[in-house]
Amino acid sequence: MTERVRIYEVGPRDGLQNESTTVQTDAKARYIELLADAGLREIETTSFVSPRAIPQLADAEALLASIDQRPGVRYPVLVPNQRGLDRAEAAGVDAIAVFTATTDAFTQHNIGMTVSESLAVFGPILRRAGDNGWWRRAYVSTAFGCPYTGAVAPAISIDVASRLIDLGADEICFGDTIGVAVPDQVRRLADVAAAAHIPVERTAFHFHDTRGTALANVAAGLAAGIRCFDASAGGAGGCPYAPGASGNLATEDLVYFLDASGWEHGVSLEGVLAAARFIAATLGRQVTSKVGQAGGWDPASGAATARPAIH
Ligand code: COA
Ligand code: ZN
Repeated sequence: MTERVRIYEVGPRDGLQNESTTVQTDAKARYIELLADAGLREIETTSFVSPRAIPQLADAEALLASIDQRPGVRYPVLVPNQRGLDRAEAAGVDAIAVFTATTDAFTQHNIGMTVSESLAVFGPILRRAGDNGWWRRAYVSTAFGCPYTGAVAPAISIDVASRLIDLGADEICFGDTIGVAVPDQVRRLADVAAAAHIPVERTAFHFHDTRGTALANVAAGLAAGIRCFDASAGGAGGCPYAPGASGNLATEDLVYFLDASGWEHGVSLEGVLAAARFIAATLGRQVTSKVGQAGGWDPASGAATARPAIH
């Protein structure tokens, strides 16, 4: 039996939040539609955060109202506080992600709270979301390194993750927010997570390809039993409060890697490339990911597939 991997798409949220060009709501809705067409079943759609903090996502209500939510597709939204939860309830969502990190320096910049303060805020949010029957993800950002304080020991990330599990999170996502991790560190974090009884089936990894290590890190995650990875079609993305953060792992690079390695995931490379090219064109640029440029590869003929049209 082929084992299945979940690809959790973060393009509409993480991919766009750092873009200075405002993307119109209907273009975001089209991007999300193309992602669903590609077979993605988890599409992080937007954030109910302060529009002052993330101006690009200020249209969260309008966007959710304009997408035709498909059965079997999860459309999680980021929620930073009670106000965000109220907005999410009013918008009729059924999946949220809360987000904290490993260091007070980072969370102070990102959400204006210390790590403990954020956990105190998330407790009631996760509880109410659970009472609503919603799916609840919790991010541990800067899981490997912080742009303000440096290297982060696995025990610190795991301590935050364990608290989030205790507060009711269904899934923990460890974020390499500034793209500094290498496979040995992924393995070590997975080992410490296992020792702390954090179930692999409730664990996801979110890699940025800032230093070209994202796919190697996915391979280490797979070897450790992790079966959910975040990616952004076109590879855009980054956190405005994490200096130096760039490029999420591109969904098309991940899809190529998983296909060629024999993992089942239900996502079409051509479909992802169509979404990646659409959003790149909307932002006025070319797709810069590796597979976005080279296309896929057909082992039967030796030819590249899904190459970009030549202009
Ligand atoms: N949705 C919309 N507006 C919100 C809000 C929410 N969930 N929470 C707070 N606000 C508004 C407040 O009304 C206030 O508005 P005003 O300046 O017009 O009066 C302003 O945002 C500041 O609110 P305050 O409660 O003082 O919080 P803060 O300034 O400490 O900001 C957060 C805290 C969490 C709201 C803010 O830091 C934030 O949204 N961060 C998200 C960052 C992010 O998404 N990063 C990328 C993901 S990793
Ligand atoms: Zn990210």
